[in-house]
Amino acid sequence: MVKRVAAMLAAVCVAMAAASVSAEPAARVKDIRSPLLNSPALVLRGGEFKLVVAGGKQVARAELSATADATAKVPLSLAGEGEENGRAAFSASVPQGAAAGLYDLSVFFTDGSSDSQPHAVKLFDEFKKDFHFIHFTDMHFNTGDPEQNEARAKIIRSMCDSKPEFIVFSGDLGLRPATYDADYPFAYEQLASRMTEPVFLVPGNHEMYVDNNFTPSIDGLDYWNATFDVKNMAFDYGSLRVVGINNFEWEANFRDWWNIDNAFFGTQGLARIMPEQWKWLVADLKSAKGRASDIVAFMHVPLDTFAGGRMIGLKDRQKISGPDKERFVALMNEFGVSHVFVGHMHWNEEKQYGNMKQIMTLTAGSGGDKKWGYRKVYVKDGKVTGWDIVTFAPNGAELTPID
Ligand SMILES: [Fe+2]
Repeated sequence: MVKRVAAMLAAVCVAMAAASVSAEPAARVKDIRSPLLNSPALVLRGGEFKLVVAGGKQVARAELSATADATAKVPLSLAGEGEENGRAAFSASVPQGAAAGLYDLSVFFTDGSSDSQPHAVKLFDEFKKDFHFIHFTDMHFNTGDPEQNEARAKIIRSMCDSKPEFIVFSGDLGLRPATYDADYPFAYEQLASRMTEPVFLVPGNHEMYVDNNFTPSIDGLDYWNATFDVKNMAFDYGSLRVVGINNFEWEANFRDWWNIDNAFFGTQGLARIMPEQWKWLVADLKSAKGRASDIVAFMHVPLDTFAGGRMIGLKDRQKISGPDKERFVALMNEFGVSHVFVGHMHWNEEKQYGNMKQIMTLTAGSGGDKKWGYRKVYVKDGKVTGWDIVTFAPNGAELTPID
């Protein structure tokens, strides 16, 4: 237990880059609300996906442009406009003749304005039964030696060169509040400029801290919402259901970087799902059971630390809402989730919980670690069957494979 607590603290206290000043988060999520860079649509050629735009503007047209060649345009047919929580939702159809590949999405409005999202759509010739996807985690851009960002770019290149069907990232792009204004845009630009395959992101603890030493105070949730803005994430690749869970979901006071109470009770590194997301998760898994050939989940913090039900606080003690470990495992088992992919600890580990396996993957780029890597996850006949861990020794800008 002592070892585990020490390791948790180590995972939280990764060496960070020098401070900068606070500022309003730069908005990367504007009129287009879905699909996004970090929550792309996986679509067959000739198929369709749901396009959601902020309300109040009239959409004139929408198109895709190939990420690798912006001159290769694909017009989209929009139909079935409906209203969804004050936003406009359309069914966007992709022509059969469009080429497979990764695309940026642009939407043009009747008032002459437009919006775009990089890497928002990947078109496929088919959804394969046998394929691999990639799990990576704890990239920690901008930590350690500045040259190491070049080595991180090489990790991204290696992942994409293996030609996965998609990539999932389970949190910790950086970061700490004092440098969010630099690190969030940097991480976004790295993903937008380096990735050549679609990537799905959920936040870790490092995306979500609050720092009240600044005026106004800095809240990582504001940066997350401005940059990525996904609350509930789930998608299908063929018959495989993949669910992304934000399991560092705490009220702002529990995410306070400097709060001694939080350090004492460990809320700065414990898993938590708040009731609204839990309700969504239950409903989503219920709808996938029976329909999906396999269900997998990804989230940041290992499930042993789920804090639901604990009494926390020295002065104002309160019972934490949301699931504890047993309730979380019971839900996963009830609906047949076979694997949950996690990070946070920066090492590799496999643990069995009833019928579900928790798979932890080492850091993909923390400045404080000597081994970086990612996990190739193999799917056969629509079910996860195994994996390989691809490991490197980083040295400045260089990256040496480890057998
Ligand atoms: Fe981390």
